[in-house]
Amino acid sequence: MSSGPTGFVPPPYPYDRLDALKPAAAAHEGGIVDLSIGTPCDAPPAAVVEALARSAAERGYPASIGSAAYRAAASEWMAGRLGVTVAPDQLAACIGTKELVAGMPHWLRLRDPSRDTVLYPAISYPSYAMGAELAGARAVPVPVGPDGRSDLAAIDPADAERALCLWVNSPANPTGHLDDLEAAAAWGRAHGVPVLSDECYVEFTWADRGRTILEHGHDGVVAVHSLSKRSNLAGARVGVYAGDPDLVHYLAELRKHAGFMVPGPVQAAAVAAWADQAHVDEQRARYLARLERFAAIMGALGVDAPMPGGGFYLWAPAPDGDAWALVRRLATDGGALVSPGEFYGPDGAGFVRVAVVQPDERLELVARRLGVA
Ligand SMILES: Cc1ncc(COP(=O)(O)O)c(C=O)c1O
Repeated sequence: MSSGPTGFVPPPYPYDRLDALKPAAAAHEGGIVDLSIGTPCDAPPAAVVEALARSAAERGYPASIGSAAYRAAASEWMAGRLGVTVAPDQLAACIGTKELVAGMPHWLRLRDPSRDTVLYPAISYPSYAMGAELAGARAVPVPVGPDGRSDLAAIDPADAERALCLWVNSPANPTGHLDDLEAAAAWGRAHGVPVLSDECYVEFTWADRGRTILEHGHDGVVAVHSLSKRSNLAGARVGVYAGDPDLVHYLAELRKHAGFMVPGPVQAAAVAAWADQAHVDEQRARYLARLERFAAIMGALGVDAPMPGGGFYLWAPAPDGDAWALVRRLATDGGALVSPGEFYGPDGAGFVRVAVVQPDERLELVARRLGVA
């Protein structure tokens, strides 16, 4: 074949674009301090790892929707922590939430081929837009107001009519803003558009209690949760989606046919994780302290990094709006990798995102290198 494929070509993966900065950061004694990808560094509870090792659930195929124990544990967590009643048959397991986020437009399009548009926050986790692209659908950003809320009034009625779904994400990655989930649910119902609420940072809500869209009813809404951040289990790949009975049933049936299954030992570990809140409280304290410490480090560099309403990212405007200059400075002088805001949409240009996912001593190392310890 001489001409090569003419169809979809995956764009560069955002974080691969930081590769060029790695040699300069790695040249520091002690190496790179990676604050770019939001990947947890702290240990999950010993009981969770024990359950992972000793479940004996590796022999047979696991249930695609999740075992009865898994669904009961997730349902109990939602009741205890989020204050909502979700019957175990109104939720199902996913293999972490990224696959669900990226796959959803495709599956919704199969369900309603007359629609072709994914609405998502203009500054956001890149997989909402990528999911649209992978489905051959239109990715239409929804502006985010200065208060961090999705500006639903700005959605073009023509786009609403074509919408497969509206994504909301609260607390938001990367901005840390909290959205108005009640308004999002009401907008979706008024326009007949499913509202998908990515709530994977809910345990790390600082400016409020943790909120779910399911507080405002289940009709037409689906909440998406993950154990990656909550329980430091990003490597195990396990999450849950819950809400509108018809939509959850449709997704669960489709995913069963397609072979989406959380491995049995991981489900067993997840049961132990959902049931324990103490480790989450410890993790909250760690992230809060790291956020405050690194905000002070940025402040000493002359960069105003406000505390987020939730999540474990600092979202800071770069001096003179030059995000890449700040990213380069932190890499060269501090040996730290952070992300330029453009990774999260054009409206994010001019900001940098710092994920405080390194141990305290690594953050102190960056402060010393930068001369602001
Ligand atoms: C907003 C948001 N949603 C979903 C995910 C996916 O997490 P996971 O697939 O590990 O559940 C992430 C990960 O960074 C995220 O930031």
